[in-house]
Amino acid sequence: TVVASEAFTGNPRRQLAKLFSVSLKLTVPDEPDVEPLVEPGKFGDYQCNNAMGLWSIIKGKGTEFRGPPAVGQALISSLPTSEMVESCSIAGPGFVNVVLSAKWMAKSIENMLINGIDTWAPTLSVKRAVVDFSSPNIAKEMHVGHLRSTIIGDTIARMLEYSNVEVLRRNHVGDWGTQFGMLIEYLFEQCPDTDSVTETAIGDLQVFYRKAKLKFDLDQEFKEKAHQAVVRLQGGDPVYHEAWAKICEISRNEFAKVYQSLRVELEEKTEWERETWMVVEESEGARVIFIDGFSIPLIVVKSDGGFNYASTDLTALWYRLNEEKAEWIIYVTDIGQQQHFNMFFKAARKAGWLPDNDQTYPRVSHVGFGLVLGADNKRFRTRATEVVRLADLLDEAKTRSKDALIERGKDKEWTLEELDQTAEAVGYGALKYADLKGNRSTGYTFSFDQMLSDKGDTAVYLLYAHARICSIIKKSGKDIDELKKTGKITLDHAAERALGLHLLQFAETVEEACTTLLPNVLCKYLYYLSEEFTKFYSNCQVNGSEEETSRLLLCEATAIVMRQCFHLLGITPVYKL
Ligand code: ARG
Repeated sequence: TVVASEAFTGNPRRQLAKLFSVSLKLTVPDEPDVEPLVEPGKFGDYQCNNAMGLWSIIKGKGTEFRGPPAVGQALISSLPTSEMVESCSIAGPGFVNVVLSAKWMAKSIENMLINGIDTWAPTLSVKRAVVDFSSPNIAKEMHVGHLRSTIIGDTIARMLEYSNVEVLRRNHVGDWGTQFGMLIEYLFEQCPDTDSVTETAIGDLQVFYRKAKLKFDLDQEFKEKAHQAVVRLQGGDPVYHEAWAKICEISRNEFAKVYQSLRVELEEKTEWERETWMVVEESEGARVIFIDGFSIPLIVVKSDGGFNYASTDLTALWYRLNEEKAEWIIYVTDIGQQQHFNMFFKAARKAGWLPDNDQTYPRVSHVGFGLVLGADNKRFRTRATEVVRLADLLDEAKTRSKDALIERGKDKEWTLEELDQTAEAVGYGALKYADLKGNRSTGYTFSFDQMLSDKGDTAVYLLYAHARICSIIKKSGKDIDELKKTGKITLDHAAERALGLHLLQFAETVEEACTTLLPNVLCKYLYYLSEEFTKFYSNCQVNGSEEETSRLLLCEATAIVMRQCFHLLGITPVYKL
């Protein structure tokens, strides 16, 4: 057998898969296409599930093996010797259980402590991706749906960035048309001297929008003018273009406040301001694309010559693929837009822009999410008709978390600045975590009481857990940075070993969350990490024990991994609470 020296990549699942791919080649040389199936194990630390599938492939081909357990046994025998594997055994119908070497696990963690958590970052096969997220509609309210897109999109971007992907964070300005004609025409009416158009002329854009809409609905002549304005705007008329740019500017300033509070970075792009050259057909004066499986065609250019949502998306896609050279383009919107994305993805395939196989790169993915619900189980609103103002919502999260801190007397212990920063970190963190922790395709009920509770699966609980670990380390009086360099970890106690294993599963969890585009996978990992830590801490004395150094290092490693999770989820950690 080959002796494999395993580098400490911090990704045991991948490393084991490599070992098993060697043993697969040796065991069944005639089946070179079989990929290793390795996953966290129910009995061992990991398991390899190839034996059963292999058996069904080879049993009809005159194989020497007698059933799946024998195949599994052969996989074990030809597994390269590696310092990472302690032992292997067969379970059930032919699963290969793998027990990792505790010594190797300890060394891997020591290594991370010395070289940093970035050495555990997974490497994906994509080099550059676009994450199209947030994307509120200019001149309209940015609502909780956009907040969800902002939070989920930011996390996906962060996870990909950590995994060595270059991410183009894009705020897509695409939903335009009639509403712009209406606003521009109304602006010209209110303010005939276009040079003097300023923020004050428009005032509150929401109010301005409502007034324009009222006129649009009542005044037939105005309505006609507004439609003409759209055509002139899209035809590139400079006066209309300038008015449009001003409205966008004002709108953008509003959105920027929310992004600043949430510390989300993204870049606005209007890729559609160029020509779209599609193979299209005529239908009732419009240019359309007929797509298999859909009864109505996708309208690309409307009968009046205007563009719509689909046309801007198609042009943007062309730009992202050909100019920006993105290999993976990810769209984060509510699940209600799934049909739009399905159709537009198919149109792009029909045009030959994307490969037919939707798993092959360049690739597009729609990340759909469910509704944010109020206590009444209906779409979240403050009053029956009004949408929730995001800035107010963020303020409330912060105020409530500040009140809770004051109730615990923190205003007497901390400076005003500390109080404010902590309230913000906890409040916004709670809001983000509540949005991310469930499977995104289902909706969730928005509740300040629930998300700000310090018990259960909440950011508050997790932030506390992290702060507590930091204080354990501090109380030891040891210089942890010095210990990191020289100290050794041992994983003798079952609770130490379980915590160590969970720490080592960080990289593969991030990888899974990236490939499935499911941030809740990472939330679950983080929650379990805090549970494993609690078990460890209640079973193993840290300060003053014989194993103090090793255990302090385990505390430190847990804190580091927790902070990296917080970072990926867009949550600011706090060090005391
Ligand atoms: N502006 C749209 C909305 O508010 C979302 C845009 C999503 N991105 C896209 N490329 N279609 O619903």
